[in-house]
Amino acid sequence: MSRSAIKRICVLGVTGLLTAGCTGPLSTLEPAGPAAASIALLWWIMLAGSVVLFAIVIGLFTLAFYRPAWLAGISARNWILHGGITMSSVVILLLLVAAFVLGERLVARPLADPPLAVQANGRMWVWEFSYPSVEGPSLTTNVLHIPAGEIVDVRVTSSDVIHSFWSPRLAGKIDAVPGHENVVRLTAERPGTYRGVCAEFCGVGHTQMHFTVIAHPPEAYEQALADAIAAETTE
Ligand code: CUA
Repeated sequence: MSRSAIKRICVLGVTGLLTAGCTGPLSTLEPAGPAAASIALLWWIMLAGSVVLFAIVIGLFTLAFYRPAWLAGISARNWILHGGITMSSVVILLLLVAAFVLGERLVARPLADPPLAVQANGRMWVWEFSYPSVEGPSLTTNVLHIPAGEIVDVRVTSSDVIHSFWSPRLAGKIDAVPGHENVVRLTAERPGTYRGVCAEFCGVGHTQMHFTVIAHPPEAYEQALADAIAAETTE
């Protein structure tokens, strides 16, 4: 095999490995709703910041080796003051502002028009979903049904240990804590099936504690939910 062929295979292999985690049903970098999009944007900002910082540090490091005279004029005091304190303060401040602005968008603040609410209960090792909008008992196990394009408040709790509700393409993680309710607000922009997992170690069944979020076209939602609840009770 020629040298250039080996080089090409290496480049392809490394690129493949680097991007393998970027797509797929559990990818935070393939957002399908506004909450997940905010999180993905913050991730890209953090990545861009770290790439720039890395480049600056490596650049200075290389200069120190190959062109030490260029850096000789900078006093030790200035290295510490500007390299150590000013630069890191500016970077941290910018990242902090980005995190606050984007994080603020994830908070489930009261709205003038209250969004649709669903209950999610974690139990070793299943997720039980119920629907206050439906009269009478309403339970779907491991499948959450929502209307696409609408804001949904998922009220998350647990009946035993701490679990964590996480559907990465729709929203961030939220802990399911016994005796307490945490709310995660999400919207699935398009109808589809989105995967979710329990993201807090909760015992031997933890890795099997998956769930699915099905976003139905809004006009078909009520019927689809009624069918799913009926199927659950006859099982
Ligand atoms: Cu439930 Cu991990």
